[in-house]
Amino acid sequence: MSTTFQLDTATSRANPTPAPMKRLTIPAIRQRKLDGVTAEPIVMLTAYTARQAQLLDAHCDLLLVGDSLGQVIYGLPSSVPVTLDMMAAHGAAVVRGSYHSAVLVDMPFGTYEASPQQAFESAARLLKDTGCAGVKLEGGAAMAETVAFLTARGIPVMGHVGLTPQAVNVLGGYNARGRSQAEADKIVADARALDDAGAFGIVVEGVVEPIAIAVTKAVKCPTIGIGASAQCDGQVLVTEDMLGMFERVPRFVKRYEAIAETISGAAERYAAEVRARSFPGVEQTYQPR
Ligand code: KIV
Repeated sequence: MSTTFQLDTATSRANPTPAPMKRLTIPAIRQRKLDGVTAEPIVMLTAYTARQAQLLDAHCDLLLVGDSLGQVIYGLPSSVPVTLDMMAAHGAAVVRGSYHSAVLVDMPFGTYEASPQQAFESAARLLKDTGCAGVKLEGGAAMAETVAFLTARGIPVMGHVGLTPQAVNVLGGYNARGRSQAEADKIVADARALDDAGAFGIVVEGVVEPIAIAVTKAVKCPTIGIGASAQCDGQVLVTEDMLGMFERVPRFVKRYEAIAETISGAAERYAAEVRARSFPGVEQTYQPR
């Protein structure tokens, strides 16, 4: 797809701001899966900055402002300390940098779990401050009431089951989930509960392939896999992982570039050129009058 957009200067009350092109909508993405069949897989990548969004936008259906920005951008040890302010600032930047993909913003830990009302206040702030199309939250059946509450009040919600990184302190790490039958059954039941509650999509992270397939068959809405299965209805990756920004990445990640070497190599050449400069002698230095 070309990254040159055609500017549509027509305005209306529904579209008061001229935009290069029409953005994908959440209902259009939800409709990709009909009667259990997804005609066109859903392409999703994380984005945290305006420039990154500009580069990814034309190639994606969904840009996720993931709370993984805690580790990727801020060097935090997990996504637990990420705040609503951080998500709002990065969400607004990604919306500014995109015209085509629908933008989703992650609800950070501690801003939605207490009650549907708390979730509504946090999600409404994200929609108002960023212009994003919807939010994503982690958790299964325990979040179903919240998903129904938000959806009924105009906020599209994507669920997230399997490995849920915000629960790292309960899970004890980032290992794949669903290794016992009971755990596998719970993941499928969690996904069903979110689907019934009105989630327009569900991220399925870090589960063995048969569970991802079972979830994808069990729910009406599209599933988006990460470390799950190519048989999900779509795929998401952390962009920096697939670009090769880090030396170590989860085993399932395919690296499409070696961006860390590119950046470090460029910095090395720049530093060498600066250090090789010959400085002017004392007699040539500037003397104020
Ligand atoms: O925070 C994030 O980037 C995510 C994706 C990995 C799905 O939740």
